[in-house]
Formats: sequence, C-alpha cells, structure tokens
Amino acid sequence: MISEEIKRLKEEKDVVILAHYYVDGEVQENADLVGDSYFLAKKATEVTQKNILFCGVSFMGESAKILNPEKRVIMADDLADCPMAHMAEPERIKEVREKYPDVAVVCYVNSTAELKAMSDVCVTSSNAVKVVKGLPNKHIFFIPDEHLGRFVAEKLPEKEFIFNDGFCHVHTSIHKEELLKAKELHPEALVLTHPECKEEILALSDFIGSTSEIISYATESDTKEFLICTEMGVFFELEQKNPGKKFYSVGHRQFCPNMKRITLDKVKEALEKLEPEIHMEEELRQRAKKPLARMLELAE
Ligand code: 13P
Ligand code: SF4
Repeated sequence: MISEEIKRLKEEKDVVILAHYYVDGEVQENADLVGDSYFLAKKATEVTQKNILFCGVSFMGESAKILNPEKRVIMADDLADCPMAHMAEPERIKEVREKYPDVAVVCYVNSTAELKAMSDVCVTSSNAVKVVKGLPNKHIFFIPDEHLGRFVAEKLPEKEFIFNDGFCHVHTSIHKEELLKAKELHPEALVLTHPECKEEILALSDFIGSTSEIISYATESDTKEFLICTEMGVFFELEQKNPGKKFYSVGHRQFCPNMKRITLDKVKEALEKLEPEIHMEEELRQRAKKPLARMLELAE
C-alpha cells in the first residue's frame, strides 16, 4: 500500500509532511499536519524533523524555507505554482513608496519571495485584519490580492489603502448569479466564504474567513447545511469533521489546478529522492524573512 510506503519513507528519512486544505483528500490523509497558510507557516518553524515535504503551491514551500534555512524543504511538485503570487510589479511598489513615504507595503503570503523581500510585513487571510490594525502606518499598499485588500480595508476605516489588481482565478470565478441560484436551492444553508472572493460574494455571505476558519465555523455551528465559497479541497476536512452536515459548492470552477497537481505518487517519489528541493539565494532569503517574521510576531 502506498500509504504504508509513505509512512516508512517518512520515518526512515526524517521527513514531516505539511499539506494545505486544497490538496486532494488522500494526500491530506497522508500528511502529518494539514492547515491554512498561517498554521502551516507557523508549524514550519516548530517541527523537529530535518526535512519538510510540502504538499501545496510553491509560495508555501518557499515560506517554510525562508523561515528554516537549515532544513531541507522539498516540494511534492515544484511546478505547482499560484498565479496570483506573481501579480504585483516591483516598479509599482517603488512608485507607491515614493508617493507615500509613510506607506507600509503589506504582502499577502500568496506571493513570491521577491515580492515579500520588497514588503514591510506579510499577512495571511486569517491574520490580515489583526496585523494591519497593529501597524503604525496610515497608508497601506496591499499586494498582490485586490479582494483580500478590500476586505481588510472595509474593517479598518482609519487606514488609507492603495490597492493592486492581483486576483485568484479560482475564487473570482465564483459569480453572484450562481450563488443566488444555490441559495434558492438550499434556502436553509449558511454561506461560508474565503476573502479572496469578489465583493458581491462577500456581501451575500454569513461568514468570511480563511480555510481553517471556515472549517471551524461549520464545525461549531448548529446549522446543518452550508454553501462553501472556496476551493473544493476543504470539503474533505468539512465532511470528516461533520458527518451529519451537508456541504454544497456553488459552481464548477472551485478547483485550483495547481493544488491538484499533488498526488500520492509524487509524494512517494519526493520522499524517495528528497527532491525537488527549494534553493534560495541567502541575500533574498534574509530580506524575505523580515516581513514573514514580523507577521508571526504581530499575529500572536
Ligand atoms: P488560507 O488557507 O490561508 O485560507 O489560504 C487560501 C489560499 O488560497 C491558499 O492558496
Ligand atoms: Fe493561488 Fe487561488 Fe490556487 Fe490559492 S486557490 S493557490 S490563491 S490560485
């Protein structure tokens, strides 16, 4: 059985497997730790194994490497990349810094190490409001995701936000018409939404939060039916934790093709070879570490 082989290799090679909620359920089942982006970044600094195998997209593995240079960080598939992570221009960051000398460049962790290195602080969807609220700066340039930026701005009217036009193609492909139809079909269902969705979806939602916050909300709720506005991978944990409850998707495009590149065969192969490993220039790592470390401090 492949699961037994994975377990054996993990122990033999001193590897911990970290996985995001968007990878396939069978991959989640074989991971040591599964969680949202914040949980995974934090756990990466606490694990004791010599090697970390990441089942997720490249920015997640990069964050683990940035925070743990002494560990070998391996990706289950190094072509699994988040398009949004590249959606900000270094030139634009420089322009905004010149125009607003007091600005804080706030970088969603769904970003490349290069973008992090140009930023003042990182955030994830579960800590963004708390972290930005704790900054002394009035002007906030939020990169790369416009939608999460607008969600945070709405909660912090005392700040002045400058937005960037990055987006997640999975979350923005959930449309209002589809959600309205789904609400008609399931009138008792609560709508649980990730803040990477468009404003029109957030406006129709009962709860907005990160993947793990959505899972906790559904698990603690007395309601029995939910419409889920995020990537389908969360259904695995939602159903495991809530056998008596029903979860519905809204459209057919709630599917991140990059997260779904991760398969059990690739996990096994990565364990056998301890490859593909993440390498990063030390100078870039040092610069990218500052905003990530500041996030971990401010989010506590
Ligand atoms: P969270 O797990 O932090 O909610 O992030 C969602 C996401 O899109 C990760 O790619
Ligand atoms: Fe990137 Fe969106 Fe996929 Fe998350 S769901 S990894 S933000 S493309």
